[in-house]
Amino acid sequence: MAIVSSHNSDPSAKPPRSPQPAALSADAASLVQQGSAQPPETALVEDHLRPQRLQDYIGQSALKQVLDIAIQAAKSRQEPLDHLLLYGPPGLGKTTMALILAQEMGVACKITTAPALERPRDIVGLLVNLKPGDVLFIDEIHRLPRVTEEILYPAMEDSRLDITIGKGQAARTRSLPLAAFTLVGATTRVGALSSPLRDRFGLVQRLRFYDTDELTQIVLRTAEVLKTPLHLAGAEEIARRARGTPRIANRLLRRVRDYMEVKAPGLITAAVAAQALELFNVDPRGLDWTDRRLLSVIIENFDGGPIGLETMAAATGEDSQTIEEVYEPYLMQIGYLQRTPRGRVVTAAARRHLGYGD
Ligand code: ADE
Repeated sequence: MAIVSSHNSDPSAKPPRSPQPAALSADAASLVQQGSAQPPETALVEDHLRPQRLQDYIGQSALKQVLDIAIQAAKSRQEPLDHLLLYGPPGLGKTTMALILAQEMGVACKITTAPALERPRDIVGLLVNLKPGDVLFIDEIHRLPRVTEEILYPAMEDSRLDITIGKGQAARTRSLPLAAFTLVGATTRVGALSSPLRDRFGLVQRLRFYDTDELTQIVLRTAEVLKTPLHLAGAEEIARRARGTPRIANRLLRRVRDYMEVKAPGLITAAVAAQALELFNVDPRGLDWTDRRLLSVIIENFDGGPIGLETMAAATGEDSQTIEEVYEPYLMQIGYLQRTPRGRVVTAAARRHLGYGD
């Protein structure tokens, strides 16, 4: 069944224009892929924390500039936005960006995830219900089944649906016109997309990890939405431990808010944030128990590497895809892990951080 959540550009507008089989946010759907990296509560509370307009979106300045130009040009030509592929590690704001694009263009955004588009009729149902200019957001687009992908090609290129009726010699192809729409695909693994699909996106953009200043602003903004008193130094403490990822920053803020309300009512200071995050096992660089275990297993059992991904997965009991897509990108970003042709290697900086010395 296609998992769909529909967002209209006008927040006061009534529910989706066309009823859909099931409603679930893309973030809820992506829980499956991200395992413990995103607890269920996040999906439920995240929607009202998202910025609604491009100007309220903090960070990703290069991406915002590119999209701002694309939006203005498409609007002045009165055309839909070009198809857009967003890639990068989870939690950096791909879904948020798709919702903002729809808002800026004044159209609706239908959200789904590739594993929910198992059968041709799942994608056909979505496509025929799109109105001119609508945004269709497909999360984890690298996981699209082949049949679904092939239906998308003419839909993306010529706003056309080619359907085959009947089987064998009696099979006939019918073409149906579709409303011109914008496909926004999101993936953590751009290399896993087939080239015919990748080539049909007019814009291919990467989301980067956020720096501490940007995450500090995001945490301050979220605290305001949540009406939580937060000191600047408290926000910085949370931001430093958020692995360059807004979703994690906002999740940590909620944990710190709980701690503050129970243990130190009043204000989230740097000390309160640090105490809370120590308690929740998030260290000063934002590493959690699994990050530290991945690194220490390589150091202790494999002499710091090089070690292959599958060996790392077997030795730690973690899923190899989760290691590759969720844990490794940040460990590499902060220079704790390197990928070499012979395998993964733990760096001297990681050894020092974990107290192994040089
Ligand atoms: N909340 C989550 N991500 C955000 C971002 N990039 N800007 C503003 N608020 C956010």
